[in-house]
Amino acid sequence: MKIRESVENDKKSIRKVHQNAFDQSEGETVSQLAIDLLEDKTALPILSLVAEQDNEIIGNVIFSSVNIEGVEGVSSYILAPLAVTRFAQRKGIGTLLINKGLETLKERGAEIVLVYGDPNYYMRTGFKAGHNLKPPHKLKYPEEAWMAQELVESILTKTQGTVRCAMSLSSPEYW
Ligand SMILES: CC(C)(COP(=O)(O)OP(=O)(O)OC[C@H]1O[C@@H](n2cnc3c(N)ncnc32)[C@H](O)[C@@H]1OP(=O)(O)O)[C@@H](O)C(=O)NCCC(=O)NCCS
Repeated sequence: MKIRESVENDKKSIRKVHQNAFDQSEGETVSQLAIDLLEDKTALPILSLVAEQDNEIIGNVIFSSVNIEGVEGVSSYILAPLAVTRFAQRKGIGTLLINKGLETLKERGAEIVLVYGDPNYYMRTGFKAGHNLKPPHKLKYPEEAWMAQELVESILTKTQGTVRCAMSLSSPEYW
């Protein structure tokens, strides 16, 4: 199994991974989000990683750029979406995709990474609630689901404001 950055040709397989991993209607929404983000200029710079086994794509994670209102020069990203194809789940592939993503973003100068998801899952890779960054919309899920992690020491204590995502992620239905 290898993890690499996705290329234009991977889009069809990326869509399939999300369709397979999520329940049917969520699968349609999330797979469309993944494709929209990959084509969204407001998401740049973007990092999209795929897990590939025997020439088949079995996992995908996307990190797209966000701005923090009133804050200049703090390179920040949000992790969404993440999926691992059903037969390959619970083998550590999701964790590997996240960790490889965080490592790559750090090398590229990223300072803050956000995620909105299950705290039990994302706490395992260093995300925590209780920071000073406000979500772009009112949240459907409890505050604990709105997490961040710093790739540079103390940046989260020094940074506050409202997060503004790429256009494709800004629709209230995702929040
Ligand atoms: C969530 C998901 C990406 C995790 O990827 P994965 O490769 O299966 O996860 P890992 O093997 O790295 O980690 C597995 C551990 O995470 C936990 N875990 C897995 N899925 C979880 C979930 N949906 N919620 C909470 N914890 C979860 C389990 O405790 C598991 O540990 P265990 O096997 O020791 O019990 C994958 O299951 C998936 O695609 N699910 C459907 C889509 C989805 O919910 N995506 C998240 C969007 S925010």
